[in-house]
Amino acid sequence: MARRYFTTPIYYVNDRPHIGHLYTTVIADALARFHRFQGDEVRFLTGTDEHGQKIEKVARAEGVDPIDVCNRHVGTFRALWKKFGITNDDFIRTSDVARHHPGVAEIVRRIDAAGDLEVRSHEGWYCVGCEAFYPEKDLVDGACPTHGYRPEWQSEENVFFRLDRYQDRLLDLYRTRPSFVFPPSRLNEVASFVASGLKPLSVSRTSVKWGIPFPGRPGHVVYVWLDALTNYISALGFGTQDDALYRATWPDPGPPAAKQAFHLVGKDILRFHAVYWPAFLMSAGLPLPTQVISHGWWERDGRKMSKSVGNVVRPDELVERFGVDALRWFLMAEMSFGQDASFSDEGFLSRYNADLANGLGNTLSRAVRMASDAFGGKTPGEACHDNEVKRAAETASAAWKEAFTAYRFQDAADAIRALVSAVDAYIAAHEPWKKVKTEGVTPALHRIHFNALEGLRVAATLISPIAPGTATEILRRLGVAKEASALTAADLTWGGLPLSSPLDAAPPLFPRADAKSWFGSGPPEEEKLPEGPKEKTVTEETKPAAPAVSAPVVTPSPVPAPAPDGGAKIGIDDFLKVDLRIGEVVAAEKVEKSKKLMKMTVRFGEEVRTIVGGIAVAYAPDQLVGKKFAFVHNLAPAKLMGIESNGMILAASLPGTGDPSLLTVDPAVPSGTKVK
Ligand code: MSP
Repeated sequence: MARRYFTTPIYYVNDRPHIGHLYTTVIADALARFHRFQGDEVRFLTGTDEHGQKIEKVARAEGVDPIDVCNRHVGTFRALWKKFGITNDDFIRTSDVARHHPGVAEIVRRIDAAGDLEVRSHEGWYCVGCEAFYPEKDLVDGACPTHGYRPEWQSEENVFFRLDRYQDRLLDLYRTRPSFVFPPSRLNEVASFVASGLKPLSVSRTSVKWGIPFPGRPGHVVYVWLDALTNYISALGFGTQDDALYRATWPDPGPPAAKQAFHLVGKDILRFHAVYWPAFLMSAGLPLPTQVISHGWWERDGRKMSKSVGNVVRPDELVERFGVDALRWFLMAEMSFGQDASFSDEGFLSRYNADLANGLGNTLSRAVRMASDAFGGKTPGEACHDNEVKRAAETASAAWKEAFTAYRFQDAADAIRALVSAVDAYIAAHEPWKKVKTEGVTPALHRIHFNALEGLRVAATLISPIAPGTATEILRRLGVAKEASALTAADLTWGGLPLSSPLDAAPPLFPRADAKSWFGSGPPEEEKLPEGPKEKTVTEETKPAAPAVSAPVVTPSPVPAPAPDGGAKIGIDDFLKVDLRIGEVVAAEKVEKSKKLMKMTVRFGEEVRTIVGGIAVAYAPDQLVGKKFAFVHNLAPAKLMGIESNGMILAASLPGTGDPSLLTVDPAVPSGTKVK
């Protein structure tokens, strides 16, 4: 039995989670559940990355302490993980002084003792989004390749880590342990990055105050990535009096053995995990993790989904409508692991209908209803031990196990779908609904229904790491009183369906969703907004170029491709008649009896106004308060549901749903600033 330690990245707390964050956490959870199922001893950690310039900036813009920003967002992450049934054993916060700081101080002390730290003065392009310096050559048209905006030029005296000294040892690691990075294509990228030459890495900051004091260097805080990466061992007690968990969990030196550690990360942060982290550990004389498993990006409109870009998909609405497991299933079944995938409402809906409503849900409903009708609400009274469903179940179980072990989650989902199809085909071929009429309730009829239901019991078992709530519910309907988390590999053995026990032919597990009801029709008459905001689009052509440092940054949210050019063109004078301004929402509440309208109190410099916008379908008041958006400032007043609105909030209208997506604004831009 192996001891396996799975970690997610610790998430920045400058925003609420979106499906990109959810994806990493769901795959880590599915892997943890799969390995527990296999009988391994699993530990699973997630948490939040709370220091650094990113958080400090948000706090400064809001006029609060950084810890207040962290405390506000950390609960959202915890609540989301709870809602999604994430089985993390622990949650670490880097602002937790007692738990996390001693580990960071200890790793710094060890790196210093190894003679790998030195003070140098330093300047360069710093991307606050990545919390990293970029050499000029790595910028794309002067902008950060991940975030698309121009980094800031920063110069200060820093403590440097002699990363360059670890180039050979790192290359050696990749050569002798090629499984250190998964997938192999990413190992090649990492190895060629290292082979192209490593430079000393700045590991302290003096311009940032919100961080862990750098041991022995008053005025310096530990660079946020050195601080954050250490969470994987500080959470185990490394550097504290009580490090028993660290000793029991973190791998021993040498090749992978009984204790293994796996870091799940997006490709955006692979370099930090596969280059910097092993180099820090080597310098500190500590063993390395077993593997860094890197996945691709969820994109929307061809760009990485990210808050900075403003094109995120939040899980809330999908979950409310389709349930947690529909989204878990989609994330795991849709993305070919390691590659990028595009999120679209249409894609989500068609997979939901094909795999869950028509596939699993429908087959389950039919099988349970027919058996229930034939045997008076009970499972069959006779088992069958050699048949095509049994063989399909065995094939699916083997393929599923192999796929999970190799992180081919899409193939694991395919194996489950194949088993469900085999059950469906089996029912169609054996026509039990006819047999019961022509032959009555015979032993053969018992066996047919047994095979169908038992096939579904195995399918429920296989789906348990991906969609645990669904697995538990299917088992309950089949008369098996077992939670998904209590299942073990023994549950894959054919024949586990209890005989002559109550069946529950409850309503469909996944009601079919028709596109029309999901994408919706237009708003009711009284909620129609003045012409303008829904149609307003910002296209690539009109998008402002990467702005200079400290210029107002208005990032367009994703928008549909511009319609073929049919509209009248306007001159710049006409455009300049529209007074666009940055406003800060200081209060917001949903308008009573309206689904769409939100009443906002908006501050433009000294001036405060009431503005009503049709955004309540997509935003809750707490997502608006304290944030800045772009507004039309000189719109003639209009009454919406009896409230006088003095201006208009700008939003892109998303393809398909027409849902609003607000334009994001750098919090550092003062309210009242003109936009042109
Ligand atoms: N705080 C750092 C990680 C420190 S780990 C020692 C960080 N945080 S983050 O909140 O920005 O994002 C972390 C992870 O979220 C990414 O690496 C990735 O795993 C996931 N994703 C964020 N956006 C994503 C997509 N659009 N698509 C898929 N996953 C992405 O980086």
